[in-house]
Amino acid sequence: MNVEVVKTKFQEKFAAEGELFASPGRINLIGEHTDYNGGFVFPGAIDKGMVAAIRLNDSDKVRAYAIDLDSYTEFGLTEEDAPSEGWARYIFGICREIQKRGGKIAGFDTAFSGDVPLGAGMSSSAALESTFANALNELFSLGIDRFELARIGQSTEHNYCGVKCGIMDQFASVFGKAGHLMRLDCRSMEFEYFPFDPEAHGYKLVLLDSVVKHALVGSPYNDRRASCERVAAVLCQEFLRGATMEQLDAIKDKISEEDYKRARYVIGEEQRVLDVCEALKRDDYETVGKRMYETHWGMSKDYEVSCEELDFLATIAEECGVTGSRIMGGGFGGCTINLVKSELYDNFLTEAKARFAQKYGHEPKVYSVVISDGARRL
Ligand code: GLA
Repeated sequence: MNVEVVKTKFQEKFAAEGELFASPGRINLIGEHTDYNGGFVFPGAIDKGMVAAIRLNDSDKVRAYAIDLDSYTEFGLTEEDAPSEGWARYIFGICREIQKRGGKIAGFDTAFSGDVPLGAGMSSSAALESTFANALNELFSLGIDRFELARIGQSTEHNYCGVKCGIMDQFASVFGKAGHLMRLDCRSMEFEYFPFDPEAHGYKLVLLDSVVKHALVGSPYNDRRASCERVAAVLCQEFLRGATMEQLDAIKDKISEEDYKRARYVIGEEQRVLDVCEALKRDDYETVGKRMYETHWGMSKDYEVSCEELDFLATIAEECGVTGSRIMGGGFGGCTINLVKSELYDNFLTEAKARFAQKYGHEPKVYSVVISDGARRL
């Protein structure tokens, strides 16, 4: 992360030194579109994220500079002061959500920069949210607990950015721990850290970015969520979590074909997360990989959040003997996450790049990630 750049730019813009805070993006090994269904997710924070320099400015204005976009704006802290810049709405939303919870905050200056690729499904927005939620919590000594920090990020997405997301991304960005994935039960909010070190077992984890961009705002993401809520309502449940295929089949004629397929995916995905966690305890990476492919094709055929490019990447992976491959994150573009035997790694990357470039005119981007710590002061 660009700590030095952030320091220097802050100095240039505000002629002072800021305090530094950072928060990561995330990967998710399995458990996609389960969070808002009250189910399980299995993410980990990564070594790519957001860094912000922040300094209180004794006013009621926020003066913010997005280094990567070379964009500067100022806004106040009341609801009428909402900035028009998309990126600034995340910071504004965090301020407002803290205030709604009774937190007393005031103006500050900030400059920030990130290295989470945008639109790649690695939660650059959650990294931004948790950076500011954590920083304001510390700088104003608000005493907000870490779950609430994650919820403040999630509410920011809901109320200021138009995405009715679940809690996974913000949770992972706040609670991340180096070398560990986290299985979170999104209904009870209980979670467990799982040591995760594929390299020690002869595997590598690599992300291939199709560079197809998704826009979740006002979007198919919210429609998916609405489908799930409709089915849960017919089942007289708060969440789809816990529903069985038998229960779903029993109400098949009361729901649309589309909602049925969406719910079928979610019910299958619940079990896959649990299977993967059990498999990891036995170092059974083959089962992990199988479930990843099942998730991919479930997301593609039933949940319909994949796209041609991502299906192509998963197919190449399968043909190269990659252990597991699937679309990662909300979908509609972005990355596949791949679990590859070390000895097949080079060949897989060569093949994937060449075949993808031949078909789409550009290579996929390749990211290797290290599982890292969550939101922190630097
Ligand atoms: C996005 C959302 C998350 C989650 C994933 C899909 O990343 O922000 O809450 O729903 O999609 O698993």
